[in-house]
Amino acid sequence: MSRNLRLDYLDLYLIHWPIAIKPGKYLDFKTEYLLLMDFKSVWESMEECQKLGLTKSIGVSNFSCKKLEILLGTAKIPPAVNQVEMNPVWQQKKLTEFCKEKGILITAYSPLGGNRDGFWLTNRVIDCEVLKEIANARGKTIAQICLRWLYEQGVSFVVKSFDKERMKQNMDIFEWNLSPDELEKIDQIPQQRGNPATSFISNEGPYKSVQELWDGEI
Ligand SMILES: NC(=O)c1ccc[n+]([C@@H]2O[C@H](COP(=O)([O-])OP(=O)(O)OC[C@H]3O[C@@H](n4cnc5c(N)ncnc54)[C@H](OP(=O)(O)O)[C@@H]3O)[C@@H](O)[C@H]2O)c1
Repeated sequence: MSRNLRLDYLDLYLIHWPIAIKPGKYLDFKTEYLLLMDFKSVWESMEECQKLGLTKSIGVSNFSCKKLEILLGTAKIPPAVNQVEMNPVWQQKKLTEFCKEKGILITAYSPLGGNRDGFWLTNRVIDCEVLKEIANARGKTIAQICLRWLYEQGVSFVVKSFDKERMKQNMDIFEWNLSPDELEKIDQIPQQRGNPATSFISNEGPYKSVQELWDGEI
């Protein structure tokens, strides 16, 4: 992997999803190719990558509390990170608590609601009236309110922008903070996952419902 990327080592190497695909079929994605991931052996290989110095740290992505618990049951090196969808509209309270307790850092993806080919995965973040109100009152943008909120939750985040001004704006979140009243209002925002990952749900596959894939965290 690091050779393909022409790097001596990676800083962080993640399991992208807690699901396997029939060998050789990754680019030709069909639900009939989905398989149950053998967490124990996959994680042993991840640990080997770290031991060999191919990566500084190893982690997971899109893992529920239950799946983390299973992985931790046999892991010799615990995951450094669990990268998951997280923003004020999908706050991941239970998972954040669990990860904090286990010393796993959450990285929030789609912190502004996510974007695929120019379309919002969910526009419920950027169109959220509560966030709009707070942003207007504070002279900030909704994006800044989201990122500051994540920062105050003690998680890291990956926000994506190809626009220089928005990149600068996204960095300008450290010299101010949200008030207890603003945090309380954000707490009350109705919750909904933006990406339930229904493409991994199939009658022939290991997960037959979104409830099963996310272990009820939906
Ligand atoms: N592990 C996983 O399964 C998974 C899944 C999804 C994403 N991710 C990771 O998470 C990263 C970010 O997630 P994402 O791209 O889904 O979502 P995102 O960062 O929430 O949204 C990206 C969109 O926000 C816009 N944007 C950025 N800053 C803005 C600002 N200040 N004001 C208004 N719009 C702004 C960007 O447009 P402009 O470029 O025009 O600014 C882009 O269209 C990805 O790069 C990816 O690495 C991981």
